[in-house]
Amino acid sequence: MGKILVTGGAGFIGSNFVRFLVESTDYCVTVLDKLTYAGNEESLGGLPSNRVELIRGDVADGLLVDELVRLHDVVVHYAAESHNDNSLFDPRPFLDTNVIGTYTLIEACRKHDKRFHHISTDEVYGDLELDDPNRFTETTPYNPSSPYSSTKAASDLLVRAWVRSFGLRATISNCSNNYGPYQHVEKFIPRQITNILDGVRPKLYGKGDNVRDWIHANDHSSAVLAIIEQGRIGETYLIGADGEKNNRAVVELILEHMGHAHDAYDHVVDRPGHDLRYAIDSSKLRVDLGWTPTYSNFEAGIKNTIDWYRENEAWWRPQKAETEAKYKTQGQ
Ligand code: NAD
Ligand code: TYD
Repeated sequence: MGKILVTGGAGFIGSNFVRFLVESTDYCVTVLDKLTYAGNEESLGGLPSNRVELIRGDVADGLLVDELVRLHDVVVHYAAESHNDNSLFDPRPFLDTNVIGTYTLIEACRKHDKRFHHISTDEVYGDLELDDPNRFTETTPYNPSSPYSSTKAASDLLVRAWVRSFGLRATISNCSNNYGPYQHVEKFIPRQITNILDGVRPKLYGKGDNVRDWIHANDHSSAVLAIIEQGRIGETYLIGADGEKNNRAVVELILEHMGHAHDAYDHVVDRPGHDLRYAIDSSKLRVDLGWTPTYSNFEAGIKNTIDWYRENEAWWRPQKAETEAKYKTQGQ
């Protein structure tokens, strides 16, 4: 039975991956998570203690990381500062965690010759015009816009350099926007759902024309497992489920499913440098590794996500007031 170290496993997508591993593999999982404002022990609630152990710590802590990496077969690196809006107001933690944290992990994996998988984002490629017929592929040049995406791009390039210079046994995946249960209420979809539950109108940045390519977090997890098990060392795989929607359409869908008029939202000040459109071509992952998404009905996925936030107020309520107070200072 293999031992897998999942960094950031108490966050939105990392905890989804941990649940997925417990349900569909024999791996024993150690989660290394700093439990920042975005990490939540309760996102791992109910998982068997003989399969999952949570260690609170920083991925930039060299001694701790060295010891944990030594004891595991595979490292999957989700831990990051993950929110663009935060990166515009306080970039420093993004450098510490996303760049130095990744450096710390790959140095330990190099020393102990461990398999490393790096979780990244399609935002490293910058953005596309709305009418661009092309989508991002593994060969699209890096062109990040924000402190968040530029630190993720930096971390990807470090991993690539460690593969080439030191023979690190690593793969990288760049995924599009995830949605589903356990996502922090600072992010677009849960912010609007919980606002409506609180009797507050959803808030659309700018005109709402921006397009995101949505994928259910469960599909992200199955893709990552496919890459760990079958991916070729040194390769990058883009993960996406052909889910392009503009923000206005997403808000309208949420309002409709929650029993409100489809136009009962407000426009607020736009995000500086706001990327216009992301779109992923995931052919390589599908053709080379035989992966396909399962949760491709976005409307059904949104409905389930709304139900989850309705039924799990105890999980999200403690985050809400502080998050909205922060947005208020930004005029959003
Ligand atoms: P999240 O903010 O919900 O979770 C991040 C987790 O990392 C939290 O549990 C936090 O406590 C932990 N963490 C932060 N700094 C740490 C540190 N220094 N040491 C240890 N743990 C630390 O983020 P998420 O949305 O689950 O994203 C996870 C990963 O997936 C990130 O690498 C992100 O770049 C990538 N990604 C996210 C999306 C998306 O749509 N959310 C899309 C593509 C890729
Ligand atoms: P977000 O969830 O922050 O993800 P990302 O910036 O990584 O794409 O935002 C998704 C989209 O929604 C993005 O275009 C910004 C927009 N947005 C709003 O219109 N209103 C909001 O309240 C938030 C948080 C985001």
